[in-house]
Amino acid sequence: MKNAGFTLTALLLTALIVYLFVSAPPPLPEQAAVNASIPVDRVFALVEAENDAVRTLWTREIVAAGTTVGLRFGEDWREVGEEAGPLPALFLRETAKNLERNPVRLSLFLGSDAPINSANRFEGRQKDAFAAMRRTGEPQFFLMPDTRLHTAMFPDEAVTEACVSCHNEHEDSPKKDWRLHDVMGATTWAYPEERLTAEEMLGVLAALRSSIRSAYQAYLDKVVAFGNPPEIGTRWPREGYYLPSADVFMAVLGESSARASLEAILDATLPPPPAAAVPAP
Ligand code: HEC
Repeated sequence: MKNAGFTLTALLLTALIVYLFVSAPPPLPEQAAVNASIPVDRVFALVEAENDAVRTLWTREIVAAGTTVGLRFGEDWREVGEEAGPLPALFLRETAKNLERNPVRLSLFLGSDAPINSANRFEGRQKDAFAAMRRTGEPQFFLMPDTRLHTAMFPDEAVTEACVSCHNEHEDSPKKDWRLHDVMGATTWAYPEERLTAEEMLGVLAALRSSIRSAYQAYLDKVVAFGNPPEIGTRWPREGYYLPSADVFMAVLGESSARASLEAILDATLPPPPAAAVPAP
């Protein structure tokens, strides 16, 4: 799972965060408003890159690989006595709940037009945006008319066979013919401001990462109470009855999302190249 390119990008990303957070002098309040030059849509692209990485890692390396070595994942994983972990959608919901408790006002929701859980059905403006996303295949950006929140919707793709088979076999699923790479729903992000400073953008990324970490830790807290808990450390379920510690899980996530996140950050903070530098098509 390790690769020198990823490690290097992860280091670069960390260096950038340290530079912007720790070394750069804090801007005066009036200067901060002037510096708020990053469109929220770019920040949504950044958190989506991060979310994509964790969703794939959780589904493939923990849920799918874990199931083959005897770990279980279910809808009632939170209940006392249930020796199980959260399904991918519930891992995301756990992350979303942690985000709600964070002072950073980023929110996250996973919806669909053919949901297993009817509470996840898109309504109103979001339903229209989702229909447009289905038609065009493109992410959608819009302002919610009631809450005035800037909102972004990104396709949630069936990245592994596990997504497809579980939904097709679920008794509450209104659709039984999902296929690999279908768009099964949409990750939906909301944020109140139209523009952010670089520091605010990294604050959003940090809030998301700490919410993901807490979601993973909540699972490990549950696991240690199992009758026969797997060993928690540096190894992964693909190697046997093991689970990575929160540090190891977050380190691998950091490596797998670093390239996309670094690009999203540079994209958001660097001015566009002069027209002459763009090669003719
Ligand atoms: C082992 C079963 C299982 C797997 C694997 C699984 N899901 Fe789900 N998924 C569910 C259940 C159950 C819900 C409803 C959870 C809830 O909100 O109560 C759900 C919810 C969702 C939703 C929200 C809409 C809805 O159906 O309620 C989307 C979108 C979704 N899953 C997509 C995916 C994708 C994409 C993958 C693979 C990355 C995946 N799921 C993997 C069982 C599964």
